[in-house]
Amino acid sequence: MGYLNTVKNSKGFSKTNTELFAVGIFEDLKLGSVGKEVDNYVDGQITAAINNSDIKGKKGETTLFYGKEKRIVVVGLGEKKKFDEQIIRLSGATVVRTAISKKLKSVGMEIFGGKDDAYFNQALGEGIILGSYQFTKHQTQNKDLFEVKSATVLGGNVAAIKKGVAIGTSVCFARDMENDPGNVTTPTKLASLAKEIAKEGDMKITVFDRKKIVEKGMGGLAGVASGTGEPPRFILLEYKGGKAGEKPIGLVGKGLTFDSGGISIKPSAGMDEMKFDMCGGGTVLGVMKAIAQLKPKVNVVAAVPSTENLLGDNAYKPGDILTAYNGKTIEVLNTDAEGRLILADALAYVSKHHKPQYMLDFATLTGAVVIALGHIAAGVMGTDDKLMKRVMDSSQKTGERVWEFPLWDEYCEQIKSKIADIKNIGEARQAGTIAAGAFLKEFVGEGIPWIHFDIAGVAYNQKESPLNYQRGASGMIIRLVLDMIVG
Ligand code: BES
Ligand code: ZN
Ligand code: ZN
Repeated sequence: MGYLNTVKNSKGFSKTNTELFAVGIFEDLKLGSVGKEVDNYVDGQITAAINNSDIKGKKGETTLFYGKEKRIVVVGLGEKKKFDEQIIRLSGATVVRTAISKKLKSVGMEIFGGKDDAYFNQALGEGIILGSYQFTKHQTQNKDLFEVKSATVLGGNVAAIKKGVAIGTSVCFARDMENDPGNVTTPTKLASLAKEIAKEGDMKITVFDRKKIVEKGMGGLAGVASGTGEPPRFILLEYKGGKAGEKPIGLVGKGLTFDSGGISIKPSAGMDEMKFDMCGGGTVLGVMKAIAQLKPKVNVVAAVPSTENLLGDNAYKPGDILTAYNGKTIEVLNTDAEGRLILADALAYVSKHHKPQYMLDFATLTGAVVIALGHIAAGVMGTDDKLMKRVMDSSQKTGERVWEFPLWDEYCEQIKSKIADIKNIGEARQAGTIAAGAFLKEFVGEGIPWIHFDIAGVAYNQKESPLNYQRGASGMIIRLVLDMIVG
């Protein structure tokens, strides 16, 4: 299926019948109790490797040994005092990647570093699943493809590992819909995936088609969708795990299933990557998929406006003026700045009908954020310092980097239009990421704390790593949001 969806548990090394088994080692080169047992199993070869300096315990180092029935891999964990969740997550992934490269069907491992802390166990569960992810479903002829069939952890906190598995599989679920191309992941497909999530998590789902989108006055989404024959969708999920009167958390994600730029067409080189322009929607659906399984005691409402941005004979044009759901008029000066137009309606809709306690939105919104932060961090900005602090804390904890941009009034001035309320672009080649944030702010209801995540740089094309083996969709930011919502 492209990734593992469970992690088994076993009671001891001798009871773990896997083709590969992993133990960790810090730079102090001391073997733990499982390590000693495993060293015996390979007739002291690990000790010999340590004594010959073939094992140094460096972060990410792997050394392979051959026992009678199974192979052993010793994974370096780095300096003991620097050991953290991210290292255990990476180690779990490294073991699975080693098994894939050696074509070994089953892997077993100890809890690296011997930490019984719940969050470390969760991180290991996440790492195992994320490391197992491959996007190979469209390859019918490649005989080298290989998937790991099972993973087992020795001991540990079973509930915490399970939570990590739910989070990891939700990220992989999002990666799959994001890696799938525009002719597979259509707005209709996103709506049907959302329906599956709703069923699994006992959520209410509402889907508007083109006619309803127009009727409701979602002029931004309708405007962008006018250039494509592919049916657009406005998708709304409502999860009620909290108290009846409690305000929900609002999540909004850009579900642009292919962005050609529209009449302001993009250059053709690399345009295929614009299949990833629905990764904001993927983030939201990934989070809701995990919520469906973890059932936290909160209320959440999630909206994904979804369409293609193409150039049909009915397409919206530069100069057009659109009216968004909150009545504000928008002068379109570039049809390639379409993400903010579809998000405008969604932010206004969720603000008006659900009065969220706070709102987060996610979008591959600007090329400018890639210039500013590369593929390392997502750009964030918003209206509430306390909420921003929570974002920063969860970023720290999950290892998913974000960096704050200022949403000062001077920037907000730049999107004022001379003939409508606002225009959809700021000053040419100036702070494009902030201009987009300033635009979105106009559609967030009065007094609702809000943070915008520009994920154009991190949603795909990151450096390959054990957690993210290919330069496709990363699913990054899902774990951060889940940390904020579920803990
Ligand atoms: N989907 C793009 C942003 C994007 C660029 C995502 C690169 C991923 C990688 C967005 O719709 C867009 O085209 N934005 C324009 C805005 C501009 C016209 C003001 C951009 O960034 O160039
Ligand atoms: Zn665009
Ligand atoms: Zn776009």
